[in-house]
Amino acid sequence: MKLFIDTANVDEIRKAHELGVIAGVTTNPSLIAKEGRDFFATVKEIASIVGNLPISAEVISLKADEMVEQGKKLAGLGENIVVKVPMTEDGLKATKRFTEMGIKTNVTLIFSSTQALLAARAGATYVSPFVGRLDDINQIGMNLIKEISNIFAVHNISSEIITASVRHTAHVIEAAVIGADIATVPYKVIQQMVKHPLTDAGIERFLADWEGAKQSVF
Ligand code: E4P
Repeated sequence: MKLFIDTANVDEIRKAHELGVIAGVTTNPSLIAKEGRDFFATVKEIASIVGNLPISAEVISLKADEMVEQGKKLAGLGENIVVKVPMTEDGLKATKRFTEMGIKTNVTLIFSSTQALLAARAGATYVSPFVGRLDDINQIGMNLIKEISNIFAVHNISSEIITASVRHTAHVIEAAVIGADIATVPYKVIQQMVKHPLTDAGIERFLADWEGAKQSVF
């Protein structure tokens, strides 16, 4: 399973990219708004950090024609820009048109497998089911990842599944075990994935023993 970072914060993207663990970036209008910066300038800066990795940038309009116009502008920023489109009828129409134009798409706000199937049939490069938001309403978000993974496998569907709305490391582990293609995770979850108390304790013990042995190799 590949890891994408889910943020529009360029410092977080830079730090995660330096770790060598991320294969893409996803943003959304809320994440962009949180940074309080120009949208296009932010996407360009993200591209300057991650090079050719896929970067999802979302259209704002709810009308297919306008989505296509906005998406074309975003796609003009680079071949690795993935146009993120909401899962609506207009979103599907726009996805079909982007597919015909060779523009990659990420159909977002997916909360059912029928939505995922429709998005895939419209040509979506990626589909983004939101597990955390389903958990929030007392449903088991990860069941949706299982169901979509099964449907896509049985029908040889090539759209990649991005497990989105990831809130903690358990989501990442479950998505990986199920076989999701990608999990897009906030920077703080990447930090949580790095840490283990036994690693910290182990480092402390090694250094204390080394100190006790009075070695001076370094
Ligand atoms: C995915 O592409 C979205 O940006 C994101 O995962 C939404 O997560 P949230 O439910 O934590 O806002």
